[in-house]
Amino acid sequence: MKKKLFKNKLINTSELENIYKKKKIDEKLFDEMNDQIEKNIEEYLTLKFKEIANKNRLKKIDNDKDYFKAKDILTRSQINNLPSWLRNNIKDSKVIGSSKNVVQAPDGRKYHLKNPLNDLSGGEWTFFLNSVITTRYPTSGNESFAHEIRKIHPSPKPPQLMRDIIKFFTKEDELVFDYFMGVGGTLLGASLSNRKALGIDLNKDFVKSYKKANKLLGLEEQKTICGNSISILQKKIKIESFLGKKKFSLILIDPPYSDMMSRKKTGQAVKSKIDANPTPYSKSDNDLGNMTIDNFYASLKSMVEDSLQFLKNNGHLVVFIKDLQPKTKAPNLLHADLIENLNLINNLNYLGLKIWADLGVNLYPYGYPYSFVSNQIHQFILIFKKKDDEKDKSVDSDRRKN
Ligand SMILES: C[S@@+](CC[C@H](N)C(=O)[O-])C[C@H]1O[C@@H](n2cnc3c(N)ncnc32)[C@H](O)[C@@H]1O
Repeated sequence: MKKKLFKNKLINTSELENIYKKKKIDEKLFDEMNDQIEKNIEEYLTLKFKEIANKNRLKKIDNDKDYFKAKDILTRSQINNLPSWLRNNIKDSKVIGSSKNVVQAPDGRKYHLKNPLNDLSGGEWTFFLNSVITTRYPTSGNESFAHEIRKIHPSPKPPQLMRDIIKFFTKEDELVFDYFMGVGGTLLGASLSNRKALGIDLNKDFVKSYKKANKLLGLEEQKTICGNSISILQKKIKIESFLGKKKFSLILIDPPYSDMMSRKKTGQAVKSKIDANPTPYSKSDNDLGNMTIDNFYASLKSMVEDSLQFLKNNGHLVVFIKDLQPKTKAPNLLHADLIENLNLINNLNYLGLKIWADLGVNLYPYGYPYSFVSNQIHQFILIFKKKDDEKDKSVDSDRRKN
């Protein structure tokens, strides 16, 4: 018989039961809850132990390979171009593999010297490729990144999520642009990852709220403009004065979804006494949240076209979008329609998407007891790349093999 790894109780049941009592939980549930917590801890530890054993095994294989001391064979400029996590450990890093293109840090992380995109190790790169992200970000305490202040916005993005996207599509100190900045999810994400960002929003209260949250968090304040992005993108001058001779490496936007936010709420939201007032971002006709769906697609497409001149070649455009509920004979797949629309832009290519499932969203019994209505807890993260003609062909051929 297989030896049991966890013989003893892993949890302090009396401490937990004090908590249950404070929360007025029925005593009949105590055993079930304790068993489940115990099971969760066991599952987590089993997985973690496997992961660590696997890492150690790979490290041993790497250690047995031939290598060179990084500081002996890399040029000064190669060392200067390394991500800081490697540069700061250059003394103990190695160059491995016959091509001499892979640098390995003392903790086992590897970096490819020809990586033009980001500062991630191979393992971190692979992890990001997962097409589904499931999160439950806290809305209070340090890890909420001043959500208390940012919640004046109806749909603030979690700064940690934006940080992780920024880290994949940029290197340290590169530039990020968000012309629907809201209360600054992208800008905070940029500060958390040592990137510089420019944000624009129509609504001055949102911009103020970003600055307040940022100050509380003690982060470096990013440059903001309060105004209509449609005309700011066309007039160029404010953006050019931010950029100087540089260009953005990433445009990361989370546009309003057509007139969704400004429509009167109906159905379950009203029944369950959730605030039934519409929550438009502003009253302005320039607000994409107040436009009809056709005007929304047309405006967003021309904004993206205008913004591409500020994006470097091979830079990325990442767009958050959510589908609307289907209506009879209208599937309302906004994400698919938007991909089609933006893919019509000449020098832009659609690369794929990630789905972000936000477990922090409340579930409601929509349609009950008559019909299926989905609780959409997910959003789409659409990824596009500004075209660099020839080089993309090799990526296309990799895709075809998959
Ligand atoms: C979905 S929210 C973005 C939320 C943001 N990601 C955050 O973390 O707070 C969309 C934002 O676009 C802004 N907006 C809509 N139309 C605009 C326009 N023409 N120019 C500038 N901002 C606009 C709205 O005020 C709103 O704050």
